[in-house]
Amino acid sequence: MNHFIKHIGVFTSGGDSPGMNTALYAIAKIAEAKAIKLSGIRKGYEGLIDGDLIPLKSNELKKMTQKGGTILKTARSKRFMELEGRKKALKTLKTNSIDALIAIGGDGTFKGLLAFSEICDIPFIGIPGTIDNDISGTDYTLGFDSAVNTAIENIDKIRDTAESHNRVFIIEVMGRDSGYIAINSGLMVGADAILIPESGKDFIYLLDKVRNYDSEEAFLVIVSEGDEIGAELVASKIKEINGDIDLRITRLGHIQRGGNPSALDRMLGIRLGVAAVKQLVNGNKNKMVGILNNQLHLTPFEEVVKQHQVNNELMELLDLFGK
Ligand code: F6P
Repeated sequence: MNHFIKHIGVFTSGGDSPGMNTALYAIAKIAEAKAIKLSGIRKGYEGLIDGDLIPLKSNELKKMTQKGGTILKTARSKRFMELEGRKKALKTLKTNSIDALIAIGGDGTFKGLLAFSEICDIPFIGIPGTIDNDISGTDYTLGFDSAVNTAIENIDKIRDTAESHNRVFIIEVMGRDSGYIAINSGLMVGADAILIPESGKDFIYLLDKVRNYDSEEAFLVIVSEGDEIGAELVASKIKEINGDIDLRITRLGHIQRGGNPSALDRMLGIRLGVAAVKQLVNGNKNKMVGILNNQLHLTPFEEVVKQHQVNNELMELLDLFGK
């Protein structure tokens, strides 16, 4: 039964991630099938405050499914953190008769929705979109798989030059406070050490390995940007052990956020986009749609903002491959 939703607004917020456009396409497709009007809100919460709306049609969006970034643009909005900003956003919804909202973003986006729900009774559904994979309630966030693919493709290239020179490379990957990108990419490229915020032993393993390093081959260290030690300090500690080591630091940076979404992210975008509209129509509100054990799963926003922990199996792999 349709809970009388006539007009959905959708926006992307926080860091863009590959797969956001695919999710928009899926949302448009099911909205049209259910005769629901769909408006895209540009630049995340900023557009919600300013009333920056555009119509979204599946026929146009289908051509964008393979594109990274977000055609709606995105932002990290300071104004929405203030009550004044949220009141303006509410006015935009009322003026445009938007009776349901879908937000695609990371934990900052969901915190924003939680605060908004205090003054706004319109139902919200969230879709996890961030390369960091740091959100509870889903095994994977939109964009994580693509980011890991980009990371491994580029680290493989670094290995070519590292092997040629027998160099130590410290490669910093993104992930904010989460080690997911580092641990996944590190395992897949055969890294000699992987440093993530969640492990206290990884640095000790690294130092042991460096003491035994004979400079006759490449040595790759993957460091998550949120790691408590960090790439620079790791480099100087290595140099302290052996000042002759030929060492370089590479930050993969924002290239990890761009590029075409992987097959997994496109499918995730399709599944979560469709699920989001269905949940609104079914009368659900203030929850995030995710995938757990390959099944659709709904999580209240309060739970979502807790960090997705790196599971025991991955931690054991880190031990095995890092030692
Ligand atoms: O949350 C996604 C992310 O790419 C993080 O991995 C990174 O720490 C951050 O965003 C970078 O943010 P910005 O693009 O605002 O510098």
